[in-house]
Amino acid sequence: MSNYLDRIGAGFVLANPEGLDFDFMPDELVGRDDIQNQLASKFSTLSHPDGAGRAVITGPVGSGKTVLAGTFCRDIQRHLANKRQIKTVQINCRNASTSMRVVQRILHKLDPGHPDRGLSMGELLISLRKLIRRDSAHLIVVLDEVDHMLRRSGDDLLYQLLRIDEDQSGKGTISLIIISQEQVLDLLETAVLSRMGSTNHIKIPPYTVEGIEKIIQQRAEYSLVTGTYSPKIIRLIAEKAAATGDARRGIELLSAAVERCEYRQDSHSVREILIEDIHEANDSVAFNIGTKLEVVDILSAHQMLVLLAMCRRLKTEATMTMGDVESLYAVVCEEYEQKQKSHTTIWKYVKYLEQEQLIDSKVATVSDGRGRTTHLSMPHHLPADLSSRLELLLPKRLQR
Ligand SMILES: Nc1ncnc2c1ncn2[C@@H]1O[C@H](COP(=O)(O)OP(=O)(O)O)[C@@H](O)[C@H]1O
Ligand SMILES: [Mg+2]
Repeated sequence: MSNYLDRIGAGFVLANPEGLDFDFMPDELVGRDDIQNQLASKFSTLSHPDGAGRAVITGPVGSGKTVLAGTFCRDIQRHLANKRQIKTVQINCRNASTSMRVVQRILHKLDPGHPDRGLSMGELLISLRKLIRRDSAHLIVVLDEVDHMLRRSGDDLLYQLLRIDEDQSGKGTISLIIISQEQVLDLLETAVLSRMGSTNHIKIPPYTVEGIEKIIQQRAEYSLVTGTYSPKIIRLIAEKAAATGDARRGIELLSAAVERCEYRQDSHSVREILIEDIHEANDSVAFNIGTKLEVVDILSAHQMLVLLAMCRRLKTEATMTMGDVESLYAVVCEEYEQKQKSHTTIWKYVKYLEQEQLIDSKVATVSDGRGRTTHLSMPHHLPADLSSRLELLLPKRLQR
């Protein structure tokens, strides 16, 4: 009798599941050196006993704001270990949306037994300062998704945290990093930006395909069994996620493909993520480009033949070259007893298919540096489905 629970813990493909978690903190950020340097430069005085910094990080969803601040806090503690004791707290203001809740959370993280009931904001802040200075420490407070707090309580707390040393002896008690999606912050408070210092504003752009590719590669290396994924698979996932610029989407697609691959494992199957595993993920994860098969109905007969040739290859391969398209198109023309179109015309058809988002293309420099090759792929459609529709339509289309 087969036991359906055997699969649990088997992990043919997945070795370290935590690496596919959104909250997983990688050892290193990939592809964000420039932004990490910008952030570090706002905290250049931190090695001095009185130094403090501030930064406002804004950018779209999944651009790595939270992980940027998280890794910075972790790394700076290590970096200054012999010079200054740095403590850090990261509060997500979505879960603590009033300034009172935020301060309570900060205190609680520093001193889990701290009584907060019945204390006023002023009293809480005095306690906070005492607590930090008692240990001769410096505290970096990160307020993530700060717009939630700003909306409920305004920006008064920011002001009070920045001024916590005023009228007191000593300075440099607290550094502040606030994070928000750009649109939201602009809308809410330009005053916040001026309060934090407009030169301290770090704007993060959305990820490009290459950016997402690096991130997924890092996660795959960490989480998956060696040999269960290829660079082509990573690239295809990145292409699928790229429209959103959201790294989380890439990780989500990788995770769904891993799940598919694990699911179909038995003693005969290939222990490797296949193109189908990625395309299958389309069904479980909503995608914003319409993936309706009818998109091919408007194509001319020879455009269909070119696309059919491509589908046949892309059923099993992640990418193909123009050379592949031409030779496979020749085979398809023979099959349908058609005279081939010229090289230039085929090229135009491929461009058109790309414009219609049926396929994707990427130019890569060949490793010996002598030439450039176009890699064609089909991130938004399942090649098998498109080809069966084309095979259905073609006989009629050719009769005309
Ligand atoms: N440069 C990067 N290197 C490694 N992982 C990254 C990088 N940028 C983002 N990630 C990962 O992508 C996901 C989304 O990033 P996150 O920081 O949560 O984005 P945001 O806070 O901007 O919405 C997280 O799982 C994060 O660890
Ligand atoms: Mg975030």
